[in-house]
Amino acid sequence: MSDSVSLQVFESANGALPPLSPLQEEVLRLKKERNAVLLVHNYQSEEIQRVADFVGDSLGLSYQAAAAKDADVIVFCGVHFMAETAKIVNPSKRVLLPAPEAGCSLADSCPAEELAAFKAAHPELYVVAYINCSAEVKALADVICTSGNAKKIVERVPADKEILFVPDQNLGAWVAGQTGRKIRLWPGSCYAHVLFSVREIRKAKEAFPGAPVLVHPECVESVRAEADLVCSTEKMVDFCKASAAETFIIVTETNMIARLRHEIPGKKFVAGPTATCACNECRFMKMNTLEKLRDCLRDLAPEIVMDETLRSRAAVPLLRMLEWSKA
Ligand code: 13P
Ligand code: SF4
Repeated sequence: MSDSVSLQVFESANGALPPLSPLQEEVLRLKKERNAVLLVHNYQSEEIQRVADFVGDSLGLSYQAAAAKDADVIVFCGVHFMAETAKIVNPSKRVLLPAPEAGCSLADSCPAEELAAFKAAHPELYVVAYINCSAEVKALADVICTSGNAKKIVERVPADKEILFVPDQNLGAWVAGQTGRKIRLWPGSCYAHVLFSVREIRKAKEAFPGAPVLVHPECVESVRAEADLVCSTEKMVDFCKASAAETFIIVTETNMIARLRHEIPGKKFVAGPTATCACNECRFMKMNTLEKLRDCLRDLAPEIVMDETLRSRAAVPLLRMLEWSKA
């Protein structure tokens, strides 16, 4: 038995895409009939990415949700906190999530009651909440950030404030190192991003010498130390587009490579390996399927419904982030 996992290498699509399936065509037809905009996270399956209006990271999709003025409906293919975010920034729209059970282990690692109790004991702390959290946690935060703007947001926090960063200890530790700010870390993490293996990543580096290693900041410190660049999924796209390298090692959820191979011709993308597997898919992101997307557009359900007091409280730190994050 081999003592290491074999690598999974994906080549660029180079424009050679198969024709859309009847189900994908049905989704496009229903989307038009419903005057819906389809926002799709970079971790969604390739077949869903292909019918999207926008594919992007949490930050880009938050701006798209806020800007969706002409649509009657926003359909969000991502996880629950992402669809909730769309509702918070654009409350007059009907927001649909094909798989409402699509949660997030990171969001679950910070229950709002525990954060409220901690804040009551430490009222001096300034709470920066990673967008991967519930609306209830957002409502307790001073400002929200994403992996794409965490450094910029933390740098804007008044210098005399001590920061509490929730819920991701890995992103929080990375941003503390980037900014030199004193940050208290909530002990949460993403079950998928902590699985990447330094040993297997080093073997991938040996197999593809010189290939840049791109690592999501939700990974643990020893994995981040292997990176040429630690960044959000959207910045991975920008980096690979601008780089002359032929091969890239992508240490984040594996469906990210669907976006890369469609948008960047003539390259190879190696999926970041874990100790036991050549790839690493988020089980929550996978809960959305093309069938559920079709049903959701047909039935205009399941819908994100939120208490207005909660929504308007959660909107304050979220709109602050959108404002601070502008160039
Ligand atoms: P992005 O901020 O790159 O969209 O990542 C979100 C996420 O859930 C990572 O696991
Ligand atoms: Fe949450 Fe991790 Fe899945 Fe991202 S990859 S949605 S942080 S469980």
